Amino acid sequence: EMSAEERAFQERIDAEIKIEPKNWMPDGYRKTLIRQISQHAHSEVVGMLPEGNWLTRAPTLKRKLQLMAKIQDEAGHGLYLYSAMETLGADRDEEIDKLHDGKVKYSSIFNYPTLSWADIGTIGWLVDGAAIVNQVPLQRTSYGPYSRAMIRVCKEESFHQRQGYQILLDLMQGGTDEQKAMVQDSINRFWWPVLMMFGPSDADSPNSAQSMAWKIKRHSNDELRQRFIDQTVPQLEFLGCTAPDPDLKWNEARGHYDFGEIDWSEFFDVLKGNGPCNRERIETRKQAIDDGAWVREAAKAYAAKQRARQAA
Ligand code: ACO
Repeated sequence: EMSAEERAFQERIDAEIKIEPKNWMPDGYRKTLIRQISQHAHSEVVGMLPEGNWLTRAPTLKRKLQLMAKIQDEAGHGLYLYSAMETLGADRDEEIDKLHDGKVKYSSIFNYPTLSWADIGTIGWLVDGAAIVNQVPLQRTSYGPYSRAMIRVCKEESFHQRQGYQILLDLMQGGTDEQKAMVQDSINRFWWPVLMMFGPSDADSPNSAQSMAWKIKRHSNDELRQRFIDQTVPQLEFLGCTAPDPDLKWNEARGHYDFGEIDWSEFFDVLKGNGPCNRERIETRKQAIDDGAWVREAAKAYAAKQRARQAA
């Protein structure tokens, strides 16, 4: 039996009126949002690491500046999202500590290494492309601060996707045979892990039903995965590359591409911390926090001095 508060809350959701920080909300709604938004924020921040790997080796100054700008955008997304999370009463430092203690998740995709310059193109095109397909509907998520954060994030992700695709186009259209092979190798390594970004299949997604009822999620994991594949295959063909999936084929009757079985054991293994780079990513984050301690201390000391001066 729903309480009057719960009924009013659900009516608001059903009427597509956003829930704002000061509105009453069920505990489960608050917890689910803190979980999803914090995981999303952690993903943005950890996602800077595989790309940062190529900052010192970008082929030209222009590419280096573009890559740097893109990585800084991701930092901004993380900050937006942590702020949105704080409006729910969660503590930023506590949530970041949980990440560093390996207690919470971030996107599986960032546990794969960036082995070549083509990987920077592939990440922009496929990883940010998948992020856009997931995040465009989140602009309509029921929690106001999260939905508004997604609007700017999606605009920036669209630029990231375009710059990634351009890197690959340049390699494929003006590159040597070796560079073309580098692109195909990169796509071969990232294709399946990118499809895993959308989460487990609907049948194995414990959070989906409730999150859809609360309109935190607007589409199921499988629906968004299919949408991504349908959008991406024509771009793959235009590039002159292939996917490492012999079952990928247009299905006229369904009006969608069919695709092969995802290796879910790999996905769950990465979630458990056993991906190729899980340990390295967390270690790098911890090191960054330790190395930045003096900056935070200096900022606090400066703020205290300003306050003392104002009081005097
Ligand atoms: N990587 C890591 N964990 C994942 C992934 C993934 N690709 N997909 C699902 N999971 C986790 C879920 O967080 C959940 O974990 P938890 O219950 O222990 O917290 C578990 O697997 C079961 O999955 P679902 O029940 O399907 O979880 P949920 O309803 O939260 O759906 C999804 C997962 C689609 C990722 C959702 O949380 C979402 O849309 N998040 C916002 C987008 C986002 O986080 N993007 C980050 C990557 S993009 C980028 O940063 C550039």
